[in-house]
Amino acid sequence: MLAIIGGSGLYKVEGLEVLQELEVKTPFGEPSSPIIKAKYKDYTLFFLARHGRRHQYPPHKVPYRANVWALKTLGVKYVIGVNAVGGINKFLKAGDFVIVDQFLDFTKGRTYTFYEGKFSPSCEGKGKYEKLLLQKKVVHIDVTEPFCPTIRGILKEVLTEKGFPYHYGGTYVATEGPRLETAAEIRMFTLLGCDVVGMTMVPEVVLAKELEMHYAGLCVVTNPAAGLKDEKLTSEEVINLMRQKEEQIKEVILQTAERVYNNRNWKCQCESTLQGAEV
Ligand code: HPA
Repeated sequence: MLAIIGGSGLYKVEGLEVLQELEVKTPFGEPSSPIIKAKYKDYTLFFLARHGRRHQYPPHKVPYRANVWALKTLGVKYVIGVNAVGGINKFLKAGDFVIVDQFLDFTKGRTYTFYEGKFSPSCEGKGKYEKLLLQKKVVHIDVTEPFCPTIRGILKEVLTEKGFPYHYGGTYVATEGPRLETAAEIRMFTLLGCDVVGMTMVPEVVLAKELEMHYAGLCVVTNPAAGLKDEKLTSEEVINLMRQKEEQIKEVILQTAERVYNNRNWKCQCESTLQGAEV
């Protein structure tokens, strides 16, 4: 199964036939919103509003672990995280898609793992991941390649065919938020080689990897990052741009989902992330 985690400005996917709204409980609490199970052609997909349906969860308070764990328990193997981002790279324009391939983590106060050793919560269930919690394991996963290269390749194919503006590859820098960045921070991120800035893809991608899921980030540039234009940045600008892109985002994710389900050529290592990672 494939799930879409929608970020700012993307709280549902219009036009999908909703089959069920699922309230899922996890050892890490409740997800940010009920998970929508929906139908597209013959396929079933899940949708989760990362910030809650009424945007109740600021980036530093999103229950990332509950969100990702809940999707896993529903049988999700593939995740596309949709993220509004500020553009740092001068070649990026508002409205461009970026299929990122790396991240830098400048967040400060989040929980970045399910496997907290002696501090892990107890849980029910006998699956591989539950066992790691029950056995109080610590793991160090390899994140040399954080995003699933197979799904990234499919996103690229779909964006090319649709003729939507996109950039393949790019470094996402995650900031703690909820404030936006200073001009000096953006100058530093430019020097460090970052292309886009956002507040939520870390730890989401890392947690998905810890459950051996395939995760790709579809970023949508909503504004030039701080200091790169004269006017003040506003949330309104971000939400408006995401609204304008809603139809394109939907087309891209549905087409990508179909190809993911039909793909028989998974060369990535996403499903064996935990091999050799346990201490
Ligand atoms: N900075 C951080 N997060 C964002 C931005 C930004 O400029 N735009 C959209 N999300």
